[in-house]
Amino acid sequence: MPLYKPSNPDVHVTSQFSLKGKNAAVTGGVRGIGLAASKALAEAGANVAILYTSTKDAEEIAAKLASETGVTVKAYKASVENKDEITTVLNTVASDFGSLDIVVANAGIASHHPAEDYTEDQWRAIMNVNLDGAFWTAQAAGNIFKKQGRGNLIFTASVSAILVNVPQKQAAYNASKAGVVQLARCLSVEWVDFARVNCISPGFIATDMLAVHPQEWREKWFSMIPANRLCDPAELKGAYVFLASDASTYMTGANIVIDGGYTLP
Ligand SMILES: NC(=O)c1ccc[n+]([C@@H]2O[C@H](COP(=O)([O-])OP(=O)(O)OC[C@H]3O[C@@H](n4cnc5c(N)ncnc54)[C@H](OP(=O)(O)O)[C@@H]3O)[C@@H](O)[C@H]2O)c1
Repeated sequence: MPLYKPSNPDVHVTSQFSLKGKNAAVTGGVRGIGLAASKALAEAGANVAILYTSTKDAEEIAAKLASETGVTVKAYKASVENKDEITTVLNTVASDFGSLDIVVANAGIASHHPAEDYTEDQWRAIMNVNLDGAFWTAQAAGNIFKKQGRGNLIFTASVSAILVNVPQKQAAYNASKAGVVQLARCLSVEWVDFARVNCISPGFIATDMLAVHPQEWREKWFSMIPANRLCDPAELKGAYVFLASDASTYMTGANIVIDGGYTLP
């Protein structure tokens, strides 16, 4: 089957970006980049399931987002590390919302260890969430999309998929994100009949993930980023809506790098 094409691709461009009537799920959707993506999808008209593992006020965050945007927003607890858990929860979202049109596989963690020192637990902790977790999320989404005949999967990868960050040592994180980009490429080809699959690869985004690093690391990063500042998570909103919407119907297998020029010099 050819890649889905809207019956009239030439509608007004603002209509192409509308997600009215669509249902979405975002892993890691209650904080940082995932919350910005959830807000963006909701503002564009989609109902959104925000998935979390440890955040205590997920229900309140969902209620606030719902009242700000006027769409349905519900919080669901699921660890992406657990194949059964994430599969069950995504199936529940599809059944509660009536369909599942957009899934953002965004949950991720980072740690920093010299490669020669990784313990098995430290290595596996990163892979379990960032690569295996992304795959379990994708597989559950793909099965729902296949049954529906259509769906849209977006991964949050990273510039760490294509460069080696310094001064921090994070071979596991970088390898996991490179795996995510290649996974997206593979799935975009395998699932072309019923889904589009793309990545967003952010540079340095001001979230909890970056809040833990020493000042001298930040200074080093700023010296390497032409933009000379961190990115606010909200500056990624448009990219998630673009990929989730009919504004990008011929785009599949792509990796959109949003990095203030960090990967260029
Ligand atoms: N910040 C950056 O500079 C940057 C740059 C490039 C890529 N990224 C990627 O962007 C994504 C979001 O990161 P962020 O910066 O927004 O970090 P963050 O604020 O630390 O948020 C991470 C999110 O992942 C969720 N999560 C962690 N482990 C999970 C698990 N086992 N199961 C389900 N959810 C889990 C967390 O859920 P809880 O809220 O329930 O704990 C949280 O919502 C990650 O994939 C990260 O690698 C970040």
